[in-house]
Amino acid sequence: MITTTLACADYLHLEEDIRALDRAGSDWFHIDIMDGHFVPNLCLNFDIVRAIRTISETPMDVHLMVTNPLKYVEVMAQNGVEAACTHLNTDDSVHEFLEALEEHGIRKGIALAPGDPAEAAIPFLSKIDFVLLLFVKPGFSGQQFQPEILKKLEALVMARKASGSQFIIEADGGVSFENAGELIARGADLLVAGAFANYDGRAPLYERTKEFCKVCKDLQGLYAGQISDKDRRKV
Ligand code: DX5
Ligand code: ZN
Repeated sequence: MITTTLACADYLHLEEDIRALDRAGSDWFHIDIMDGHFVPNLCLNFDIVRAIRTISETPMDVHLMVTNPLKYVEVMAQNGVEAACTHLNTDDSVHEFLEALEEHGIRKGIALAPGDPAEAAIPFLSKIDFVLLLFVKPGFSGQQFQPEILKKLEALVMARKASGSQFIIEADGGVSFENAGELIARGADLLVAGAFANYDGRAPLYERTKEFCKVCKDLQGLYAGQISDKDRRKV
């Protein structure tokens, strides 16, 4: 499955892009929310989320890169956000954040930045629906994919098996047509499509999204029976 980051959308033609992504079959929309403090950048906001909701029912996963994630749970619930995750080193308690999401019926996730080891996820494994695994530093689209983080993906797949939990793994940052196979083969369930995938400019967004969805679906079909972690949730 793919979740298209709207951080790469054409803001002058946002409605056109949303409709193209929907027609092409993007399974989710990935919403990067930054506060200019936790990371040195600003990106989308909840007014934009609200506006998108008026033209699309595609589920949204919010990737919070903010110092106080708890502050945003209410507004996410009001706007029908389906899934959200926080980084671990914020000022708020991750456990409290996950509990607040649970109360509002939002799927619960944690995000691991390149500096966070896979073990940092362990205290949360029984409480989460997904782990967002970053292959670049949080804050900016267009950075180089860091292949050494593939080892962390494998460690998470092993931790999932050992813990018997069912969380899915979302790969974010630098995902491309070239590395999608490797990511899926190693156990990524959901790929964030951005600058190097459907927005790579090699064809209109609609066509590239359709193509990327097909590539990922075929790869997930191909590897579904072969991945050693047979218990993992069907994708
Ligand atoms: C980085 C963000 C990503 C970004 C995707 O802070 O979390 O979601 O938009 O990166 P690209 O577009 O480079 O794949
Ligand atoms: Zn993101």
